[in-house]
Amino acid sequence: MKKTIIATLTLTLIVGVIYANTEESSLPNLTMPDNNLSFQNIEGYQDYKIVATHFRTDKKELRYILANSIGYNALKEKAKVMPEGSKIVKIGWSVKEMPLFPSALEADKIQRVEYMVKDSTKFNANGDNWGYARFVKKDGEYKVWNKGTKGCIACHSSAKEQDFLFTGLQGKF
Ligand code: HEC
Repeated sequence: MKKTIIATLTLTLIVGVIYANTEESSLPNLTMPDNNLSFQNIEGYQDYKIVATHFRTDKKELRYILANSIGYNALKEKAKVMPEGSKIVKIGWSVKEMPLFPSALEADKIQRVEYMVKDSTKFNANGDNWGYARFVKKDGEYKVWNKGTKGCIACHSSAKEQDFLFTGLQGKF
């Protein structure tokens, strides 16, 4: 009797663990070809804190920069070098006129989601310890960026003095 109860409990536990591990992610199953960073690595990014907003006049794109709690707290403390586990996300939106007030623009469609993650165990080749990932949305579907991350690193190098981040907390620096 005791054995049956233990066996049943063990089985329930195993099934539970398997179920928890295979639970569907809400994010597309996409992985960067060159550094293995996945979209699902930023699961829950919609709940990250807003660091800043930008508007690219040439691309007419509204950008939200968000950070997970590690990244956000470090930015708040004006850390010179961001700590391990920091994740900084950029969401790019097309814009449209607000139906009730056309001189105001509002976010329309997501065009891209990209992120940087600080992980010195995986990314140290260029000395910045950041991994870069980009997912571009076209016709409602996300596609992984397959042109490599050399361009990301090269351009972000111009923000080397700020640990390769262009963005600080809006209004706080
Ligand atoms: C030609 C320059 C350039 C290239 C190439 C570039 N970025 Fe950026 N990136 C910027 C600028 C400027 C900003 C801040 C303004 C904005 O929001 O667009 C930024 C912001 C970011 C941010 C928010 C954190 C920060 O630094 O402000 C992330 C994340 C990011 N880029 C990821 C990437 C990834 C991933 C790639 C490559 C696939 C990439 N970037 C390529 C110029 C660049």
